[in-house]
Amino acid sequence: MYTKVEQIDCIACGICQLKAPQIFDYQPDGIAFCKLDNNQGQQALPNQLLPQFKLAYQQCPTGAIKRRTKPF
Ligand code: F3S
Repeated sequence: MYTKVEQIDCIACGICQLKAPQIFDYQPDGIAFCKLDNNQGQQALPNQLLPQFKLAYQQCPTGAIKRRTKPF
């Protein structure tokens, strides 16, 4: 699984970093990014992070967190 934040859709709500602190972090302006690969969507999520990824993905209120089975 690969992920990145569609930053134009992020409202800086903070949920993803709370649910998946090993995957997501915030820029100084509060907009989220995937910290595994600086939001490039090129690095596969390690299996052990999939449960927390799922929580963040499901709870993002705007659908800004994208996922694909292949790199972006
Ligand atoms: Fe933004 Fe969604 Fe995270 S709105 S802060 S990507 S939960």
